[in-house]
Amino acid sequence: MHHANINTVLGEQLVSLARLACDHAYAPYSEFPVGVSILASDGRIFTGVNVENASYGLTICGERSAFVSAISCGAKEFLGIAIFTPTETASFPCGACRQFMAEFCSNVPIFIGCNKGEIVHTSVVDLLPNSFHFSQGDKTSISTYERTPQQLAMCIDIDNVLAASDSTMRKCIERVTNGRVHLSYDDICSFDYWRCSDIHGQQITYEEWKVCHDLFSSPEIISQIAVLPGAVEAVKELSKGFKIHFATSRLPAARQATLEWLHSHGFPSEDTHFVSSGQKHQAVGPVWACVEDDLNQAMAFAKSGCLFPLVISHPWNALGDRTWAIRRVTGWEQVLDILL
Ligand code: THU
Repeated sequence: MHHANINTVLGEQLVSLARLACDHAYAPYSEFPVGVSILASDGRIFTGVNVENASYGLTICGERSAFVSAISCGAKEFLGIAIFTPTETASFPCGACRQFMAEFCSNVPIFIGCNKGEIVHTSVVDLLPNSFHFSQGDKTSISTYERTPQQLAMCIDIDNVLAASDSTMRKCIERVTNGRVHLSYDDICSFDYWRCSDIHGQQITYEEWKVCHDLFSSPEIISQIAVLPGAVEAVKELSKGFKIHFATSRLPAARQATLEWLHSHGFPSEDTHFVSSGQKHQAVGPVWACVEDDLNQAMAFAKSGCLFPLVISHPWNALGDRTWAIRRVTGWEQVLDILL
């Protein structure tokens, strides 16, 4: 597998996923939600939250929830742990959780984030030196576990990520409206073209949008779409370390031409998924990273455990209030900087 450096970027991303998980905390008694994310050595992410109980002592902490989830799913070795609490200062794991984590981690970095300040970097050994283990060693000690090597997966969108689709779509709109609607790149502030208006306030109707979309989906148009700068070279580099999936919500009429387009530009097209909008994370399964132009789809990947949900910046994907897990990049060069 591609061996990730436990670096700053990884810490930030893991803390972001812990922060997303925090929403699921069940803490009606203490009103102190805790979110935890852990990275297993096979690339999977597991999350956990504190789950309280009316019988207070039955409460389980976020850290133990996360490890129980990971071990239940067959994870055996861990590369990083992040903890998030929506507090002013970093919140360190309790003593019980330190011993619990030491069971499965020899010396794993811990990243602690909160509402303020820098992420605190520590480790399982720093927090619990000389933790308890049976001196003879037994089945529960980490050294007896076998690591299952597994190639990390990535999911890459096609339109406006590999392909310069927006300019082609805007040309289709001009053609269909006989020049009435003349949208520029910066006018596309929403994913829904029928909501965008040009400098004269002209818009397409929802009916016209369907005609434009059908025109865009025709083999003649699809085959002429340009490749975005650096995409071919970047995907070639990434495919050395990752299992690459392409996923698109292009219409059925565009399928054959899309596969031919990918192939003709030298992209490995075997794993191309045609899925409804917003459903890629379900169709493709767990991925280490995704490259998208759709914020909602990137957020859905993040919530399903994608550590690097990357978005290529376009006017329609400006970051909002709750998009901290997303990393917005200017192009393929930055994608490689982050992932390699
Ligand atoms: N809690 C954790 O989730 N992790 C810790 O390491 C310390 C405490 C939770 C348990 C309880 O739901 C709340 O924080 C207040 O103690």
